[in-house]
Amino acid sequence: MPVNIMRRRLGLIAFTICLTISMWSAASFAAEKPEAHGDEKLEHAMEEMQTLIRALGKSMREEGKEQQSADLIQQMIPHAIIAKSEYMHVHAIEDASPAEQPKLINDYRIKLNDAIIGLAQAENALLAGNKKQAAQYLTDVKTAQRAGHKAYKED
Ligand code: HEM
Repeated sequence: MPVNIMRRRLGLIAFTICLTISMWSAASFAAEKPEAHGDEKLEHAMEEMQTLIRALGKSMREEGKEQQSADLIQQMIPHAIIAKSEYMHVHAIEDASPAEQPKLINDYRIKLNDAIIGLAQAENALLAGNKKQAAQYLTDVKTAQRAGHKAYKED
């Protein structure tokens, strides 16, 4: 067989091997990292908020940790926004009739917005150095959390 044909064949074989390996590794990566389902996204967002609010409670009890507390709140807000957008995975909304759903969705969004507003106001108060006011706004967040869980979280 002429050398140039042999080279071309070898090149083709090498190319096929590379393509097979890359397709195989892409498939196994996809199997290892499945897309998070909406209900997992909601659960994850809530768990992240819980971890951060615990850390926040601790930093609020310590002197001179206003900036750290504000930063923790900043990290919480995106999780609250994700939780708000995942309303279709809230069981009480998912299982409601189409006629009931719009009202429940709006109420769920209002309750999460109450939490987000309280967080943003507490963050602003901390950034301005007003810890006492921040603590007051954080009680609004707790109230929104309690109301949200009473209405939508199953035990
Ligand atoms: C700072 C505020 C909040 C914190 C720290 C928080 C924390 C949590 C935690 C730890 C869970 C359990 C997650 C798990 O299953 O492992 C949870 C679940 C849940 N929360 Fe919140 N929450 C907050 C605010 C809210 C608000 C305002 C609402 C509603 C408007 C809400 C609705 C829910 C619902 C529907 C679930 C059940 C999710 C599921 O199906 O797994 N939460 N939350």
